[in-house]
Amino acid sequence: MEKIILTGDRPTGRLHLGHYVGSLRRRVELQNSGEYDKIYVMIADAQALTDNADNPEKIRQNIIEVALDYLSVGIDPAKTTIFIQSAVPELTELAFYYMNLVTVSRVQRNPTVKTEIKMRNFEASIPVGFFCYPVSQASDITAFRATTVPVGEDQAPMIELTREIVGRFNNIYGPTLVEPDILLPENAASMRLPGIDGKAKMSKSLGNCIYISDSKKEVEKKVKSMYTDPLHLSVDDPGHLEGNCPFIYLDAFSTPDHFARYSDSYASLDEMKAHYTRGGLGDGTVKKFLMKVLDETLAPIRERRAYWEQHIPEIYDILRQGCATARAAAAATLDDVRRAMRINYFDDDALINEQVKRFTNK
Ligand code: TRP
Repeated sequence: MEKIILTGDRPTGRLHLGHYVGSLRRRVELQNSGEYDKIYVMIADAQALTDNADNPEKIRQNIIEVALDYLSVGIDPAKTTIFIQSAVPELTELAFYYMNLVTVSRVQRNPTVKTEIKMRNFEASIPVGFFCYPVSQASDITAFRATTVPVGEDQAPMIELTREIVGRFNNIYGPTLVEPDILLPENAASMRLPGIDGKAKMSKSLGNCIYISDSKKEVEKKVKSMYTDPLHLSVDDPGHLEGNCPFIYLDAFSTPDHFARYSDSYASLDEMKAHYTRGGLGDGTVKKFLMKVLDETLAPIRERRAYWEQHIPEIYDILRQGCATARAAAAATLDDVRRAMRINYFDDDALINEQVKRFTNK
């Protein structure tokens, strides 16, 4: 069986470091590993519209922001098909058939949907389209016969639902769809990068983000303001690591190489943590080191972004081509689905004869 990746993002804003360690970095590694036959990365505009119906302009503006973020982090259109969800209408048709295989109560139990409903104050009036987006996500994944879906843990319930839909579909209509596996980030810090205020998760609505496209200056300013240990009042006090942003960011970003390059005092993050915990290491020093690590990570990304910002029409060409490639793949799956469901009336040679017999031998 082919190894195929599909993943994507809603174009509701620029992507931030949470997206980077939670998914983008891994995508680029997988892309360059040569282990996958096909890789699709989708800008999920139709899904973004499920809770932004009154603001399509926001989605329209952010498609290029997300595409720029993709190209900047190293997603390579020669290896990865980047496309826009709404340009593949086959996905919508598939979702309509899948909706019959999922119960309302099943979606109501989806913890990610539950949280989102609360966050958006949708309790009293949930748009039907929003409620159905987990089902539409199952079409995104299965339309491309994805075997692997690299996403953050908040997306786990969607992959689980997709596997259920695949199971039910294949059971009713015969083996047709591929069951995908989720691929989660390597460590807890990457799974759930906190915002610079130490709040649970980096998120645009909380205003606690470092964006992939932030300048070196902006990043430094944000690192300086990062939440650390409120009890660590003087350098000599023993410090606490729990909820301490700079250390969590180092968990997510630093490598032993960084210590070799930028630190005379420590060979590893563990040594640095040990010094902090026993006292004698100031937050400023930790933050300075983090700035170096982040700058090393972000400098090549900024460079690529500066290039692509001068080549915007080319990006739309990449997207147009990606959409054509994606559409062909999804259409082939939809053909299989229609055949399996026996709703392929006009290319089913047996159908006419079957009906002729039915009515002539009365
Ligand atoms: N729900 C994802 C998010 O909010 C975006 C998305 C849509 C997606 N369809 C997908 C992710 C299919 C993985 C696979 O980030």
